[in-house]
Amino acid sequence: MDTDPSHPDLAGKPLEIKKSATPSDLHIQSRNRHFASASIENRDWIRDDPYGTAFFNALSVTFPKGETFFIEVLKKYRKDVPEKLAGEVAAFIRQEMVHSREHAFFNRHVTDVGYDITRLEKNLSDVIDGFRSLPAIHHLVATMCLEHLTAIMAAEFISNPAYFENADENQKNMWLWHASEEIEHKGVAYDTWLHVTRDWSRSKRWAMKSLFMARISLGFAKNRAKGIFDLLRQDGLKGHRAWFGLARYALASPGPFRRTLVPWFKFFLPGFHPWNIDDRELVQLAESDYEAAIMDQPRDEESVTEIGDRRKPGRLPRVA
Ligand SMILES: [Fe+2]
Ligand SMILES: [Fe+2]
Repeated sequence: MDTDPSHPDLAGKPLEIKKSATPSDLHIQSRNRHFASASIENRDWIRDDPYGTAFFNALSVTFPKGETFFIEVLKKYRKDVPEKLAGEVAAFIRQEMVHSREHAFFNRHVTDVGYDITRLEKNLSDVIDGFRSLPAIHHLVATMCLEHLTAIMAAEFISNPAYFENADENQKNMWLWHASEEIEHKGVAYDTWLHVTRDWSRSKRWAMKSLFMARISLGFAKNRAKGIFDLLRQDGLKGHRAWFGLARYALASPGPFRRTLVPWFKFFLPGFHPWNIDDRELVQLAESDYEAAIMDQPRDEESVTEIGDRRKPGRLPRVA
């Protein structure tokens, strides 16, 4: 039986999450970046790369509704988890709210340059409605699995410069900013899951999370491919040409599918935790490109910790 350590605080809540590898000095902060007016200058905002453009456009369609769902799910557990984790859940919510907002703007820019994303949005709504019809614990395990997928993609996008080599600067910065915050909060849903299932047996916990990860990963890959083909068709790319181009993009160069397979597989190993790999240096790497950007850091949120003085409001010009 996996139970929490016997160190209850005054409210009867455990002080720490057993098996959590979340660094004790981790600070999750919402940078509240603004990219609303960073319109897409070219239909192929990753120039000469319709497959990369379609890949990120299709991914972006998922964020406003998908991340709103994650927020709803974790919000329900905020009062029931230990204090440190409750603060991280609050910071997670603030980060995802801003991500949803900025991707809604990004998606509007995608439609402004002529893409029809209604079928992609409908597909996503159907998937989320399907999740909503499941029991509450399934909402949490689905959120935890999708957060792992997001985090391993985020690490890949920051560490491999090939993705945004020829991208519009503003769009590149938006994606790197989002990726960096995904890394920062990658353990929040997982720690919430560990806490909520603290009385489950190890095998029951592993079975549920593994089953969900397998199903969600297949669904995610299938639905994103469908969305990407839809967008490529709108660029006149279809049939074998589209299949070959997307396969080359996903598996060869830059190869997001191939390059995230190992970290994806680690999810199934005993003792897995998102923070078994401390990749906070990627957050710093992404931020090193952000010197010209705004920091609209909310000052009154006690659980939001600033990284440095250069992030103080008013010191940097607004992007949007
Ligand atoms: Fe996000
Ligand atoms: Fe996230």
